[in-house]
Amino acid sequence: MDKLLITGGKRLSGDIAISGAKNAALPILCAGLLTADTLHLSNVPNLKDVATMLSLLRQMGMRTEQDDDRLALSGRSIDKLEAPYEMVKTMRASILVLGPLVARFGEARVSLPGGCAIGSRPVDQHIRGLRAMGAEITIEGGYIHARAKKLRGARIVTDMITVTGTENLLMAATLAEGQTVLENAAREPEVTDLANLLVAMGAKIDGIGTDRLVVQGVDQLHGAAHTVIADRIETGTFLCAVAAVGGDVTLKNTRTDILDVALDKLREAGVILTSGDDWIRVQMAARPKAVSFRTTEYPGFPTDMQAQFMALNCIAEGGSRVTETIFENRFMHVQEMNRLGAAIGIEGHTAIISGVDKLVGAPVMATDLRASASLVIAALAAEGETLIDRIYHLDRGYDRMEQKLSAVGADIRRVR
Ligand code: EPU
Repeated sequence: MDKLLITGGKRLSGDIAISGAKNAALPILCAGLLTADTLHLSNVPNLKDVATMLSLLRQMGMRTEQDDDRLALSGRSIDKLEAPYEMVKTMRASILVLGPLVARFGEARVSLPGGCAIGSRPVDQHIRGLRAMGAEITIEGGYIHARAKKLRGARIVTDMITVTGTENLLMAATLAEGQTVLENAAREPEVTDLANLLVAMGAKIDGIGTDRLVVQGVDQLHGAAHTVIADRIETGTFLCAVAAVGGDVTLKNTRTDILDVALDKLREAGVILTSGDDWIRVQMAARPKAVSFRTTEYPGFPTDMQAQFMALNCIAEGGSRVTETIFENRFMHVQEMNRLGAAIGIEGHTAIISGVDKLVGAPVMATDLRASASLVIAALAAEGETLIDRIYHLDRGYDRMEQKLSAVGADIRRVR
């Protein structure tokens, strides 16, 4: 199993190109199921999760052609309407095939995702929404079996804001008969990116970017070309790394408008940020100041940045409180950071952090994707060597992270 060996304390300087967003690419690949025509995608990130989604789609009969970050998908010969347990258990986002399959083919069998390191993460809202659109759904042998001759539009108010739930129902609604209104819809930029692709495919969607999506169903969708939006979490992760270690780095192919709150928090921590249309420069020369925050749905502070900011707070001047409101178990990095000398206590859903003068390298274990990224940041800031085990989590969602970091001066190496 691969590990990362990091020797901390190296200032970072240079340029990093940001990849396409994992959480936009995954639903967008599933949108390929909605049409018999070809989708031409670019800025597709090179990630394990993207490879897993592609192999799931190929297994269903999707034809794919890949050339670096460009990808052509053809859904002309889809003949297997199933997502098996073996795939769904490795990647929960596989649930995103459910809506498109029922909408276009009238049937789908998708394994129920099991538990997950960061929380229980049920998919009841996806199922409830499809039922409201007339799908007959049974759950048997660990599988969701959905059938509908033709989905029909409905007004759906989800109990909570759900990102993949909104995406699943939005894709389903594009081919339903009549009007669907999705109230309490997620407004994450990745949902907007998917909606923009669907419109390019011929879908009729109003309210894009708001919490009320109104969809007029059409008989069929057609092919389209689309560039996947920049990964705001990858962007934020590198910003935190520079904030924690110090340096001067310009992030290319990314945007500030999808990261508002996180950027404000970085400024509060003492980071100097300048930006243009498609770049952000981050400069940091001092010890960061501690920043407190609560995670919330977009446009609030993203849960996917919570762990990385926690790494920053560990070595910051002062104390901070970090409250996680989206997932019930997303503090698994805390024990590992404490092994590096951090002083973090947990009270319910809040982590209480006292900034320490320094962290000291130690062997640690990655527990999920963003926890892994936070350990990389902590290790870059720590004195001495840190060996991070189980970095397959990192490979799921970061495109060549260690190459990007070593190119700006980090001492980071993959060991097998
Ligand atoms: N929830 C339910 N029932 C549902 C759906 C969600 O109870 O039917 C709950 C969840 O358990 C959670 C909350 O609602 O407590 C929000 O979950 P959501 O459905 O929004 O999360 P998701 O769609 O499964 C996506 C991202 C996550 C990101 C969250 C929150 C993708 C593929 N995944 O997950 O990304 O943390 O939204 O922003 O888009 C990551 O990239 O590391 C990651 C975990």
